[in-house]
Amino acid sequence: MRHFLCVNDLSKKEIDTILNWATTIENGWEFCRSMNNKCISCFFAEPSTRTRFSFERAMHWLGGRIVTAADASASSSLTKGESIKDTIRTIGQYSDAIVMRHSDPEWPEIARQYSRVPVINAGSGSGEHPTQALLDLHTINQKWKTISGLKILLCGDLENGRTIHSLMKLLYLYGCEIYHCPAKINYDDSDYELSLPNKYLEEIPCTKVQIDQVNDIIKEINVIYMTRIQKERILKKFGQGDIDFFKINKNNIDLINKQAAILHPLPRNEEISEDIDDDPRADYHERQVRNGLYVRTALLDYILYNNPIYFSNGNNS
Ligand code: NCD
Repeated sequence: MRHFLCVNDLSKKEIDTILNWATTIENGWEFCRSMNNKCISCFFAEPSTRTRFSFERAMHWLGGRIVTAADASASSSLTKGESIKDTIRTIGQYSDAIVMRHSDPEWPEIARQYSRVPVINAGSGSGEHPTQALLDLHTINQKWKTISGLKILLCGDLENGRTIHSLMKLLYLYGCEIYHCPAKINYDDSDYELSLPNKYLEEIPCTKVQIDQVNDIIKEINVIYMTRIQKERILKKFGQGDIDFFKINKNNIDLINKQAAILHPLPRNEEISEDIDDDPRADYHERQVRNGLYVRTALLDYILYNNPIYFSNGNNS
């Protein structure tokens, strides 16, 4: 049984396998194995649009079935005080795998310990979001036909953005040069940075760029990865502080490398102006979102069978 609770749960070879499979799926592979006897539970105790829809569509696409709780923080027995551990054990009795999102960053380790079926992390508070990182990596690879050696700039709320935490581990694994530009918040007359947590900075070399210096370096950057300010997570700590962060708009779009990919896990707030959505470098609305479907289809196939069908067909050398 394999879980996918953090990006380290898959080897580089397995990730390559899954992303190759995603490409095959996109190119119209005829599914020769039906999942109609398999069922996944989608348990989302935090809001979601892309992640839940793409997982559910992926399972439908594979011919499988789903049971779903889109608003589990209000509609499940969590509201009656049921623990995450009991919830996971219960759902596992009704499905072959669980796709779960919850605000507690520790829930994946509870799942690892107690689940009898594979569990996929679809977001763990401000911890990780490993499936988003897979599809982001896939999108970067499609755009540049390589990953190693690329310069990637991570912008926004780097403290709370879970997609960043998972992605930076993969970028490091694949040999990227990582730059980061954290948002700043002024609260009680002091400046505070929404910076990458130390546990990541200690392990992964990254170069910091100040907000007012980004325009000077963006010609050299291959991928700009924007994220929103996670107001729902920082409000408890800072109330309504003044927030400053790097933004992409008409004023600086021409400074960006002509081949760059501009990515965003979405939802987008003010960090990317809507009037650059049609720029050919803006890959967040279509390419990146669609890759969520292909990559999650490939991942479900891998996790549910742990042996993608194309192994037996000899397509993966
Ligand atoms: C993100 C998430 O939920 O972590 N979105 C996503 O899953 N595509 C990003 C966010 O909430 O800012």
